[in-house]
Amino acid sequence: MSRWSKIAVVGAGAIGGSLAQRLAESDLADELVIVDIVEGLPQGKALDIEESAPIINFTTRVRGSTQLEDVSGANLVVLTAGFARKPGMSRSDLLGKNAGIIRAHAEAIKKYAPKSIVLVVTNPVDVMAHLVKQVTEFPRERVIAESGTLDSARFRLFVARELNVSPSDVVAFVLGTHGDTMVPIISRCSVRGVPLAELLPKDKIDSIVQRTKNGGAEIVNLLKSGSAYYAPSAAQLEMATAIARNEHRLLSASVELNGEYGEKGIFLSVPVILGAEGLVKVVETPLSPEEQHLLSVSAKAVREDVNLLATLP
Ligand code: LAC
Repeated sequence: MSRWSKIAVVGAGAIGGSLAQRLAESDLADELVIVDIVEGLPQGKALDIEESAPIINFTTRVRGSTQLEDVSGANLVVLTAGFARKPGMSRSDLLGKNAGIIRAHAEAIKKYAPKSIVLVVTNPVDVMAHLVKQVTEFPRERVIAESGTLDSARFRLFVARELNVSPSDVVAFVLGTHGDTMVPIISRCSVRGVPLAELLPKDKIDSIVQRTKNGGAEIVNLLKSGSAYYAPSAAQLEMATAIARNEHRLLSASVELNGEYGEKGIFLSVPVILGAEGLVKVVETPLSPEEQHLLSVSAKAVREDVNLLATLP
């Protein structure tokens, strides 16, 4: 199978490390570089992952670096650098701390990997993606943010456990921002075509919606010293694979809207098709009036954070 020459993971924290392992094991590229400013950390994780190659059976070369210029030539750059939440913090609380980091990294990506597709993971993710697009001036096809894939996975799991069916048989979209106003689209959730509303009473669905919205915080409160990384890195792998293998997967992902769903100029998770060029298309599907309203509330929350971003030094 033909494959990419290079993927860069920027940030060797819990998410970056977990994602690097998944990417290496998926053999998506000839080379995987992990970049982090902390001397030894990216090199150590890279070597550790690479030493599993003879057992796991992958051929991707894994390298660690402290130099941002080593993203050079990457087809895909996954931006995970930055601070994670602590208990009691919202994702928006990270805005001021992470904006400076992301701005510097986006400048490096623009300089050293001008043709790359950027997958943004750092929180608050919809706002950080906005910043990356602004700094790199890449077309919207090449700046994509994770969140809908992760939030949908959580929703799908909770539904599957409630119904005692296989998690992969649950089809669902969680749209909107990666925050308290995210919108699980109940009207489009099914177990392989059987509508959720026929399978579960409203109060059960409501509590699954609530748990999904709180999904990231639930893990933060358990871990206490950081945020989730196994499910996030799985969601990132799903997106990276769709792009690297030109799968044209229909997934929920955050992209800059250009009038779709009544929104323009902000990043929001919506149904999209992902393939070799990154965003292939935004898929517009009618939502119920309530869902459409909730999506506009979610858009407003992102817009407020984007305005806050503009006021930062
Ligand atoms: C979460 C963080 C990574 O939702 O945003 O777990």
